[in-house]
Amino acid sequence: MRQGLGGTGRFITFEGIDGSGKSTQARMLAERLRAEGQDVLLTREPGGSPGAEEIRQLLLTGDPDRWSAEAEILLFTAARRDHLEKTIRPALAADRIVISDRFADSTRVYQGATRGDLRATVDKLHSLMIGREPDLTFIIDMDPETALSRGLARGSGEDRFEDFGLSFQENLRHGFLALAHAAPDRCVVIDGNRPPEAVAAEVLAQFEARA
Ligand code: ADP
Ligand code: TYD
Repeated sequence: MRQGLGGTGRFITFEGIDGSGKSTQARMLAERLRAEGQDVLLTREPGGSPGAEEIRQLLLTGDPDRWSAEAEILLFTAARRDHLEKTIRPALAADRIVISDRFADSTRVYQGATRGDLRATVDKLHSLMIGREPDLTFIIDMDPETALSRGLARGSGEDRFEDFGLSFQENLRHGFLALAHAAPDRCVVIDGNRPPEAVAAEVLAQFEARA
């Protein structure tokens, strides 16, 4: 499942709707692999490098209508390019396991399919500027109502996307499931509507089965 581009390490991503438990699962997998003595870098998008973290603030705070879908695609891609250059590629080249809480699938779904059909634009920019897919992607699948109540309960102040509401989250869920269907070799769908330990056990089993 390794790719040649950008190094020899392994690149794992977690994707899903807001509040589905991605961050929790990314952290649990990282902790588990570190406990086994593996060299793991846990990172996130948007962000994961100093420049990309600055772009994160522009994207996630403020009015839901602050950016057009097109402007958002450019900002997320700029943040991802910096994350890839400064954080992901160096870690993979050092043969580390990189676990990222979100990556390009989020742009495909959030910007590509929720406000008009911009998927072709997202794909073109991706191949031009990023050109790297994860080796393995966990899509944490959840009922949006439960996920939304979990996410907003955190009160992080980074709720611009949660503020689009429930039907937006329903569209996202279907978008992620469609991606998983289209890329079954890379993506594993995990039922997130269980206690965190049960979800983590399945994630670990799938990781080991595909290592
Ligand atoms: P995401 O990164 O997908 O937005 P988080 O991992 O931050 O999700 O989880 C959102 C909230 O839900 C957090 O308060 C977290 O503690 C809680 N949570 C995470 N996983 C579960 C789970 N399996 N069951 C119940 N609550 C969970
Ligand atoms: P995140 O911090 O993962 O939020 P959450 O923990 O609520 O899931 O991501 C921030 C938001 O940015 C989230 O609502 C999804 C959105 N996003 C995009 O719209 N496009 C992207 O390419 C990425 C990486 C995130």
